[in-house]
Amino acid sequence: MKTLRIAIFVSGNGTNCENIIRHFKGSPNVSIGLVLSNKADAPALAKAERWGVETVVVDKTLFNDEAFMATLLAQHGIDFVVLAGFLWMIPAFLIDRFPRRMINIHPALLPKYGGRGMYGHHVHEAVCANHEVESGITIHYVSQECDGGEIIFQATTALDPTDTPDDVAAKVQRLEQRYFPEVIARLAAE
Ligand code: GAR
Repeated sequence: MKTLRIAIFVSGNGTNCENIIRHFKGSPNVSIGLVLSNKADAPALAKAERWGVETVVVDKTLFNDEAFMATLLAQHGIDFVVLAGFLWMIPAFLIDRFPRRMINIHPALLPKYGGRGMYGHHVHEAVCANHEVESGITIHYVSQECDGGEIIFQATTALDPTDTPDDVAAKVQRLEQRYFPEVIARLAAE
């Protein structure tokens, strides 16, 4: 089996990014070729570098420059893209370049609590405000519609009426840690 070379796109803390890197360290099937961030101060970058993974920071002009991005990803031999807390919309040329080979994790049960403005803590606050009895994670292919691509995997977690947004975030993060690398491994094997 050919080794799948993954680029992880991040904007923030990088809990998922680090967990994925850790999971595939030494794997003959999957390697993390690049971590790309739109934020120079994203803690995810230092985490990736500690694991010896190459990182790059891009501004909006570069990220939307087809020739630049094509060269960057080709230079790193990237054939699969994972969005792990990446907050920019993906330009159409990139989505087209990775058909069914670009996935995102969303910290709720899509199609609920998706769309523009629904990321990170905003999601968990809305879930609590609506007194939901469960939340979860959704892993989906990236399409041109924000959080609207085909769903690959969902997992749920029960919520208590007393759960705060922080409690919900912690429960969701446990699911992300458990399932995201597993789902990537399954897709890599297909
Ligand atoms: C994760 O919970 C991820 O599901 C969410 O951002 C967090 C990133 O955390 N993504 C979105 O909200 C995308 N709409 P991390 O940087 O610590 O992995």
